[in-house]
Amino acid sequence: MKRRYYSMKEDIIRVQNDTLLAISAAEDARALDEARVASLGKKGALTALSMGMKDVPQEQKGEVGALLNAARTEITAALEQKQQALEEAADRAALAGIDPTLPARFLPTGGLHPLTLLRERAVGILRRMGFALADGPEIEDEFHCFDALNTPADHPARNVKDTFYFDSGKLLRTHTSSVQVRMMEKNVAPLRIIAPGTAYRRDEIDSTHLSAFHQLEGLYVDRDVSLPDLKGTLEAFLRELFGSQTEVRFRPHFFPFTEPSFEIDVKLEVKGQAPRWIEVAGCGMVDPAVFEAVCQSRKDRSFDPNEVTGFAFGMGLERLAMIQWGIRDIRLLIENDVRFLRQFA
Ligand code: DAH
Repeated sequence: MKRRYYSMKEDIIRVQNDTLLAISAAEDARALDEARVASLGKKGALTALSMGMKDVPQEQKGEVGALLNAARTEITAALEQKQQALEEAADRAALAGIDPTLPARFLPTGGLHPLTLLRERAVGILRRMGFALADGPEIEDEFHCFDALNTPADHPARNVKDTFYFDSGKLLRTHTSSVQVRMMEKNVAPLRIIAPGTAYRRDEIDSTHLSAFHQLEGLYVDRDVSLPDLKGTLEAFLRELFGSQTEVRFRPHFFPFTEPSFEIDVKLEVKGQAPRWIEVAGCGMVDPAVFEAVCQSRKDRSFDPNEVTGFAFGMGLERLAMIQWGIRDIRLLIENDVRFLRQFA
């Protein structure tokens, strides 16, 4: 019994020393793992010794156990240390020939286009006022773009000279007002929506016209919506956009889909110019004929003009951006000249 005990102690110390030697000699992760398996693995030398514990006399168990634990702790620590050393060496090797003190390479970052900036601001203000975002197709039919909006067949906007028609009879929407109709077909009052989007007209491109441009449409339908609601909403919106002191005026106008209709002007000082009235939007109270067209299309009376009223508005986003930043030529907004765009980044 005594002999066995002594040889057990010696065995533990021998395994410990052999393993520590193997660890320090390991030159890569594989050799290190082999040293670990050979001592602490399921069939490892130290594991085998631990299993011999059951034969150690009771009074010596404590001492042998402590020796075993110490060996395990030392081996584990040596394994960790060596692994870290190997990883560090691998990192150093990977960086060989690279000068980490060189300044970083310049990575150019982009910025948002002024039209995007303006649209996000406008949409943000209107959403805070309770309008929800809406969307509709850019390839439209005549019903949603014109007929339902009370625009007669002989209206100039319906001319092939002014509008891009497809052979199918469909067209590129000339305004975002078509989204009003689509939203009323699918929802019921109260309805508060805004629809930013692209519109198309066969215009000659010059400093104030593009054939593809952007609008922001708005519609509010409920019981008892009145002209003061329209004025208050749009005045608040424009003052938030252009500054709290901005003067706003409503000038009587005509649109087929609203009655009465107005154009809205704001008095603004465009950079480097004397303050003047600038037209920024069209608006009006939804014409009962539009509600009737929607009711016919829905085949119900959800938008009975005797029950509901509403206001609508539409504005050109390029125009708002030009006013906001004093941009003189609308073409700057589509040319993607970084010297121009960089100013907004
Ligand atoms: N659709 C008009 C345009 O393209 C803008 C407009 C005017 C929209 C009055 C409206 C409105 O909703 O009520 O010029």
